Amino acid sequence: MSGSIYGNNLPRMQEILEDMQSRIAKVRQQAAAVTGMDPVEHSLGRIKSEESMREKCRRKGLPETADSALSEIRDAIGLRIVCAFLNDVYLIRDYLASEPDLTIVTEKDYIRHAKPNGYRSYHLVVKTADGFYVEFQLRTISMDTWAALEHHLKYKKNLQGNIDLIASELKRCAEELASTDVSMQTLRDMIIEGNGADL
Ligand code: GTP
Ligand code: MG
Repeated sequence: MSGSIYGNNLPRMQEILEDMQSRIAKVRQQAAAVTGMDPVEHSLGRIKSEESMREKCRRKGLPETADSALSEIRDAIGLRIVCAFLNDVYLIRDYLASEPDLTIVTEKDYIRHAKPNGYRSYHLVVKTADGFYVEFQLRTISMDTWAALEHHLKYKKNLQGNIDLIASELKRCAEELASTDVSMQTLRDMIIEGNGADL
């Protein structure tokens, strides 16, 4: 039989994705009510396609089964939350950590500890009470822009030119963007203090 790699779990996975999206919508509203600013610029959610999941199983040397897709691999359900400011990334992180029915399984702060290529984001894998994993990628707009460009270049066939120079320039861009994120956060803090707002 050649059914879905997710077996009969797709409806539940879809439900979990929608539940996570509505939780994020709720934090956005709550934070906006307190600060007057929406902490999230935009967010995307997806169930990894059948094809990419099977490809990932093969790449990792795993059998193409529901167990591999749902337990060995933990990004079948994924959300990317893009924030305007650095502090907002940590606000969303703290919110997820405070949800009593979600368990944090892994947490990687590639913001404080960037990857060697310059990649920055905050990655969290949480587990629902009924055992499904959900991967969250939290990042700022700058980090998202960089990741999109880097992804684009990485998958470009027959990349011409000085690869080492491209890599080091890309890393330099990541560092400049990171420094801009810090400046923008500082500016926002100054504006909030200036307004006497309660954050
Ligand atoms: P996977 O086996 O792909 O799940 O990797 P991992 O378990 O080591 O997790 P990691 O935190 O390294 O990466 C998970 C996801 O983050 C990837 O699938 C990408 O979406 C994103 N990511 C990680 N590193 C990079 C990077 O260098 N560039 C870009 N553009 N995205 C990255
Ligand atoms: Mg992953």
